This record gives sequence, C-alpha cells and structure tokens, in this order.
Amino acid sequence: MCGIVGYIGKASAPSILISGLKRLEYRGYDSAGMAVIEDGKVVITKAPGKVAALNERARNEWPASRFTDSRAGIAHTRWATHGPPTEANAHPHADQSGGIALVHNGIIENYRPLRTRLEAKGHLFLSETDTEVLSHLVGDCYQGDLFQAVCDALHQVEGTFGIAVISATEPGRIITARRGSPIVIGVGDGESIIASDASAIISHTRQVIYLEDNDIAIVTADHVEIRDLNRVPVTREVAELGFDAEAAEKGGFEHFMLKEIHEQPDALRNAIRGRLDFNLGTSVLSGMGTSPRDLAEVQRVILLGCGTSLHAGLVGEYAFEDLADTHAEVHQAAEFRYRNPLVNRSDLVVAISQSGETADTLAAVREANQKGAFVMGLCNVVGSTIARETGRGVYLHAGPEISVASTKAFTCQVAVLLMMALKLGRGRRFSRDEGMRLAREIEAIPTLVEQVVAQSDAISRIAKSYADNEHAFFIGRGYLYPVALEGALKLKEISYIHAEGYHAAELKHGPIALLVDGTPVIALANDVPGKDKTLGNVEECRARGARILGIITSGDHEAAAAMDDVIEVPACHPLVATIPTAVALQLLAYHIARHRGCEIDQPRNLAKSVTVE
Ligand code: M6R
Repeated sequence: MCGIVGYIGKASAPSILISGLKRLEYRGYDSAGMAVIEDGKVVITKAPGKVAALNERARNEWPASRFTDSRAGIAHTRWATHGPPTEANAHPHADQSGGIALVHNGIIENYRPLRTRLEAKGHLFLSETDTEVLSHLVGDCYQGDLFQAVCDALHQVEGTFGIAVISATEPGRIITARRGSPIVIGVGDGESIIASDASAIISHTRQVIYLEDNDIAIVTADHVEIRDLNRVPVTREVAELGFDAEAAEKGGFEHFMLKEIHEQPDALRNAIRGRLDFNLGTSVLSGMGTSPRDLAEVQRVILLGCGTSLHAGLVGEYAFEDLADTHAEVHQAAEFRYRNPLVNRSDLVVAISQSGETADTLAAVREANQKGAFVMGLCNVVGSTIARETGRGVYLHAGPEISVASTKAFTCQVAVLLMMALKLGRGRRFSRDEGMRLAREIEAIPTLVEQVVAQSDAISRIAKSYADNEHAFFIGRGYLYPVALEGALKLKEISYIHAEGYHAAELKHGPIALLVDGTPVIALANDVPGKDKTLGNVEECRARGARILGIITSGDHEAAAAMDDVIEVPACHPLVATIPTAVALQLLAYHIARHRGCEIDQPRNLAKSVTVE
C-alpha cells in the first residue's frame, strides 16, 4: 500500500528519501515520486513502476548538486486508488502555485465537491487523484504559514489521511498529520525522518514518535512540535523501536518469504516464551488485561480479521469452542460494521492483524468499541493503530514480516490463539493436569515446525512437478479446514495459480465437476479425527482423475497409500497440527511460485498492508 517518507536534516535529502522508499517497497505499490526544496522552489520528479525507475530518472535529469545540497524533501510510493498508476497520478502533488508539495496515504472522500469548488476559483488539476485536490486546498488556504494552511485544509476534508507537506517559502520545516493512516516521526541527531512505517526510519534512529489521529506536527531538523487540528499543543511520548535494520534484510535467503518461513521456529519461540505456566497449567497473557473473574464472564468470543488473519481466526474459533467450551464466531472484518452485529458486554472481541493497520479490521474494532464489547488486539507490529486503539491485547513478537504473503504471522497468530483458548479453558473445563498437557503440546510447536522447514528441498522437488498446473484444490476438514483455505490463498497470491480451498466434504456438492485428469488436489489428511472421512473424499477425487498430494502424519502408511505424493508432518495434538501443516503448504506455495519464476515477495496487485476499505 502507499508509503510516505519525509526528511529534513544535514544529509542529502534525495538519497535518504530513495533509500527510505526502498525500505517501504514490501508494502506493494505501482509508482513513486519525490519532491525537494531547492533555491526557493519545489522540484518534483515522479515515475510509474519501481523506486529504481524514480532513482534513475532523478539521477539522469537532476543536476548532481541537487543530490548533494537538498536538505529537505518528501517522497511517496503510490498504490493506485483514484486513477491508474501513471506519472501524472503519482505523488507528490503540487498546489496551484507550484510552491507547495504534498504526499498522502488514505482517501479524501469529499474530494469531488472540493475539486469543483476549487475549479470554480480557477484551479487547474493535472491528475485524477483525491490527493491533488488536498494539495490545492492547502495552497488555497496558504497565507504565509504552512502549518495554519494545513490545519485549515484538513478541517474541510472527510476521509482518511497520513500526509507530509513542504513549501518553497518555508524550507526549514515539514508539516505532517494523520487521521486513520499511520505516521511515525524519527527523531535523530540534527535530522528528522517522517514515514508511514518505521522500517523506513530504523536505519537512522530508534527514537520515534507515533502520531495519533488528528495530530498535526511541525517537524524541523532539531525539533518536533505536535498540536491538534485546532492548534492546541499535545504531548506524545518518544518510543524506542524494538527491531533492528538487519532483521528487516533477507539474511542470505533468495526471498523474504523463504526467510520468514525459515524464521518460524524462532518466531514461534518468541511468541510462546514466558507465556506458559506449567505449574498452574495455563497461559500468562498479561496484555489481555483480564482477571480470571473477567474471563469467567466472557460468554462469546468474536474473532475479526481479513485474509490470512481471518484464517487464523477460523482456527481460533475451533480452539475456543473445543478447548474452552466457549461459543466463538469469526467475522470477515470488512463486513462487521455493515451488518449491525449483535455484540454485548459479555463478548470478548479479538481483532487479528499482522500489520495492525488493515483498514477493514480497524473499522470493525471501532464498531465493536461502539457496542461496548471488551476488545483486544492480536497484532505483530508494535505501536500499530489497532494495537493502540484496542489498548489491550497480545503481541505476536514474530519480528518484521516483509513479504506480502503472510507466513510467520499466521503460525504465531494460531499459537497465540491456542494460548488464549488454554487460558479461557483453564477457568472453565481443564483440570490443572489437562492444562499442563496442552501447555506442553504448545511448547513443542517450534520443534515440530523445525522438522517441516528441514524438508524444504524435498518439498521443492515435489513442487516442481506441480508448477505447470493452472488450477488446484485444497481440501481439509475440522481444524484443518481453515488451513486448506490458507494453503489455497498462499498458492494463488504468489504463483497466480487458480487455487480453491474447500471443506473436504464440499467438493462433491459442486466443485468436483472441475476435476479432470491430473487436476491437483492437495489433501490435508493428517492422522487426526476425521482422517478416514477425508481419505474417502480423496478416493472420490482420485476416481475423477485428480492427482493427489497428501499432507500426512509421519509414518502413516495407510494415508500414504491413498496419495500420489506426500509431505509428512510430525504427529501432535490435532489443533497444534494446524501449524506444521500450514508451514508445509507455505513451502509448497513458495517453491511452486519460484519454479514458475514469479515475483514472490511483491505479487502483482497486492499490498502488504491494506489501509483502504
Ligand atoms: O496485516 P493484516 O494481518 O491485517 O493483513 C490482512 C490481510 O491483508 C493479509 O493477511 C493478506 O491476506 C496476506 N497477503 C495473505 O498472505
């Protein structure tokens, strides 16, 4: 999704802007641009495509002195919403005078009437974007004070924004503001960096300030002053970033996705460490902010998420019902606020989001808050909007996930949900011994995952023989049904193979019509309750000529005999089995995509963090 970088300080602004944009590439985008202040003018360069194209254009077209001498600027990677990914639509956008430039994440919902009004005053627009309207509006409000002009303009807009604005006549400051779209300000030594994501800041400083909604900041090289839109000063803490730049690099792997798959044993250890209490047979999740008495009052768990996080929620639904005897339901977060959901004070609402910035999940959190539910976040990115707005919850501690395809976040989400279910279950049905046994199963997860990751080369060989297919089906039942959905999502998003996940029993209700000789069916047939029925469904597929790749429990000869190919995962508790099975499917998808020569970390049309509705 769109990315913002702004810089003001002692170094070359263009170089820092380009390297910052590169660090945001993982978010997905389709054009890029930057603006710097030089000799009392704002100079803007933009390019469709990658940041490398923008850099090349600036290096070719700009005098070398602009690179060495410019000390302030703003830059952007755009993921098209209003208008195609052309140079004209790329940010930054100038105002009518050309003296002000602005970059923007989010959507200005009332941009059409604003544009009509400005056109009536003689403004000429060069793009189809809502952002250009905002930049003209700032220019229209400008009377010699950029901060005041941005305040006045933002009072007139409806929608969401994270913005950074510069003016040729005020080269010593950048104005930045947010509503619904994150802005982080890095506080360095004689320099300040603004970004939509801390990844662009971490190589300069670990000291950051997160803006809250409706904050507006005047950022200079040495100072950050924050006010609200009515100019009333507000205080925001300086926080310390908890990961380092090296952790965000590929570490010798060909792709971030492969690195992140391999990181899972450690990520899971981090997610689990210190959170299991073997004496009491429960889990310790202090971020939930719940006493045993609070938990006793929970009558229903509502899980919210999108994409992979939604699939983790589906596993959680089984876990809360089976382990904690608590009614649980999963909602696709985008739908939640439009269906007037019945929510009450005895509901525990868990918003699941790796990034903590997904617009649909955030909106669902706000809806649940409105209805008085007890809401908590299950996020990976510390300090993200959902984490802050829920105010309580459990962090995954999975480390930065850069690849657009989510891997380690999913397995850590499931592990944390199992620990939440254990905590709730311990207060309801588990004896101390039963709780201890489940805690031991959860503790073993990283080791189980190590055994699957070690099979990467073998899975690559199997993947090669499936790489030329254009369709695939994933089937599973019980706890493995959500994992089948997740396996299909992983394959389709990075390999562009049309993949569908189904409950194993569902194929015969329609989709089986699509099976022809050689159609791949990936059957999750681990040795858990329901396996025999899944093997029956496998036979139905085989009878239609399908080629069956089974994910089976190590040493299960009966299941192996039913398959054309197998990937073995270690025996474990049926709910825990969702995690190593998902890892096997991640590796399968990764290797198929690699054999097909796909651009794995940044698949077409996708963004890492979807901050628009
Ligand atoms: O950051 P979130 O977990 O809220 O993101 C939700 C989805 O956009 C995300 O899981 C998406 O489906 C991934 N690309 C899947 O790999």
